Amino acid sequence: MQKALKEKINTLKFWENHEIVWLPSTTSTNDDLKAIWREANFTHKIEIADIQTKGKGQYDRKWVSANPGQCLMFSFSLDIDEYKFPISLIAGVSLAMALEKLTVPTKDFWLKWPNDIWINDKKLSGILTESTTLKKGFRCIVGIGINILPLQDKSVNSISLSEAGVSVSRETLLIEFCKTWNKCFYYSDLEQAKLWNKYGNQFWERKVKVQIPNEPAIIAKPLSVNQDGSLMVKTSDGKERKIISATLFPII
Ligand code: BTN
Repeated sequence: MQKALKEKINTLKFWENHEIVWLPSTTSTNDDLKAIWREANFTHKIEIADIQTKGKGQYDRKWVSANPGQCLMFSFSLDIDEYKFPISLIAGVSLAMALEKLTVPTKDFWLKWPNDIWINDKKLSGILTESTTLKKGFRCIVGIGINILPLQDKSVNSISLSEAGVSVSRETLLIEFCKTWNKCFYYSDLEQAKLWNKYGNQFWERKVKVQIPNEPAIIAKPLSVNQDGSLMVKTSDGKERKIISATLFPII
């Protein structure tokens, strides 16, 4: 299986030198790459795991999956010279484009800023990007989790591709993501922001509760994503505000 993956992925410019490792089980694919990210002989990797026992999400959330095949869970590394349009937003756009290619109905799925994908009122996927400084530039680890089959834990507001009527293997989805990333990564900030705004889709029709760290939550209407990845919203007093970092809760 890994040979076929390599043939499809390592032939793409961005992924030429990435080692591809598929593990039956690990704690967290992000943590595995972080454990070696400052080593002198570091080589770039894509690490995929069938099972994660200590998978992590943003803001100390968990992304644990004990059932092989339920989620596509993977992390990859990359080095960048400077922060422009944020890597985690590029990953969200690339995943949205991959889903479109795999015929997930475009009217149903949408990007929730900064990078989750939702299908109507439920979360399909999440992205956690972590970074460290190098002598020159930054090393980033991008970790992605996508529900393929229904989650056993029904208390989580999530949806899987199979519940959305799309039957796709983890390998196919991973290859499609690698192809779309291979395009999106090289686009200009302007093009990346335009694409984010396009795949935002239902996000622009919703109101959201915006939780900015150390501030009371506000209710706002999303307006657009800027070229630096920040989000413009209109608050209930009619003013526009730029959001750089916050958790957003869609009002369902
Ligand atoms: C979120 O929704 O808050 C982000 C979830 C990110 C989960 C993925 S699964 C693969 C990678 N390894 C981790 O420990 N987390 C990410």
